[in-house]
Amino acid sequence: MTSRPVPSTRPTPLADADAAKRAYELDRAHVFHSWSAQATLSPLVVMGAEGSWVWDGDGTTYLDLSSQLVYTNIGFGHPKVVRAIQEQAAKLATVAPQHANAARSEAARLIVERAQQIGGVSSGDGDDFTHVFFTNGGADAIENAVRMARLHTGRRKVLARYRSYHGNTTTAINLTGDPRRWPNDYGAEGVVHFSGPYLYRSAFHAATEEEECARALEHLEQTILLEGASTIAAIVLESIPGTAGIMIPPPGYLAGVRELCDRYDILWIADEVMSGFGRAGRWFACELAGDGVRPDLITFAKGVNSGYVPLGGVIVSTAIYDTFATRAFPGGLTYSGHPLACAAAVATINVMTEEAIVENADRLGREVFGSELAAMARRSPIIGEVRGVGAFWALELVRDKGTREPLVPFNAAGDANAPMLKLGAACRQRGLLPFVNGSRTHVVPALNITDDEARYGLALLEEALDDVARAVLDEDS
Ligand SMILES: Cc1ncc(COP(=O)(O)O)c(C=O)c1O
Repeated sequence: MTSRPVPSTRPTPLADADAAKRAYELDRAHVFHSWSAQATLSPLVVMGAEGSWVWDGDGTTYLDLSSQLVYTNIGFGHPKVVRAIQEQAAKLATVAPQHANAARSEAARLIVERAQQIGGVSSGDGDDFTHVFFTNGGADAIENAVRMARLHTGRRKVLARYRSYHGNTTTAINLTGDPRRWPNDYGAEGVVHFSGPYLYRSAFHAATEEEECARALEHLEQTILLEGASTIAAIVLESIPGTAGIMIPPPGYLAGVRELCDRYDILWIADEVMSGFGRAGRWFACELAGDGVRPDLITFAKGVNSGYVPLGGVIVSTAIYDTFATRAFPGGLTYSGHPLACAAAVATINVMTEEAIVENADRLGREVFGSELAAMARRSPIIGEVRGVGAFWALELVRDKGTREPLVPFNAAGDANAPMLKLGAACRQRGLLPFVNGSRTHVVPALNITDDEARYGLALLEEALDDVARAVLDEDS
């Protein structure tokens, strides 16, 4: 175990082994889990959580470097958000979406206010964000954004990148560029994939970020021309691809996408479901593109209310709003703008503002994660690359730093994936919840994790990576 002292913020929960045992048994008997072979599962029973920590039935605590599925952006149990949900439940626990209600109106105002900062001053050309269409999560935000884009442009095709995730509804999973699409791919009409910038594993034989950016844009333009610009409604792009590997777009890439969209009259849908609400040290990661660069539609979910109650949505610019000003938008959801979810969003956004949590994410990236992870990479034989910003970091794991052979093959399963399973187990054994995907582990904690907690978590992660390195290198020698 690390010699680093345990942070003073670690809670000391009471054990409740009987309740945990019952939860586990009922789960195994009756709960059907996502993305899994059911009979192989052995889920951790989480009995409670506070800040960046969760605990199980034995009272064992785990530091959460994953913020669950990258969404508890303000950590667990923030008292102001919990109180806001309780008060809203007592006042108006639910109401149908056709009625206005205070929680939803205020959530929309706060979200729009933040989106209006993207890219500096609006061009006045219909690019200002004014309205929010609320959904229950990220995938349905994507569905509805694409529907809006298709109706607005009168075109069917939608371009998305390989190495992306956009959700698990029909359009969203078909837009997805990772192996979760394969078993769900019934050939959604009009979806076309292209390669985005990813210098470490460049599809364009580029040696520098500048080359990667120029060639990725050239490839995107070729794709547009060969598919027929007049058939394409939108390009859907995670501003920073998240689960697929946290590839920060090189300077100029998002501006180049905007420029191509303008040239060919295509809409840019920025998927900010994971990268938004502070994750990248900005309210929206597309702000990294700089002044004058704004998407046409933005999808969000997760961090908007730290996932305390399911919520997502589409932020709509005036040009698209105008399309539906006198013509009905043919879409809706029973729980669109649910008051409990919106009250949680209002409280979360206010807490993030009052406690400067977005600024803290930016600082954590610059002062803690950037330098600590770079030093870890120098010490470790299996960390090939570290990249990220804010509280959004990926460690690319390799068998050989020279050849960049991934630690496990693409979409590995079973024995081929053993090193990554070992990494997960080695982390949990040390009291750490990691985010593990493919040949990568991501450091994506709550944005208000303390510096002590962050450094402690990295020390545990390094020990776990050392275990894996020893096992893999022994096997290879
Ligand atoms: C970038 C991105 N888009 C969309 C989604 C889908 O969101 P949800 O699972 O809330 O439907 C996710 C989920 O991880 C995501 O990361």
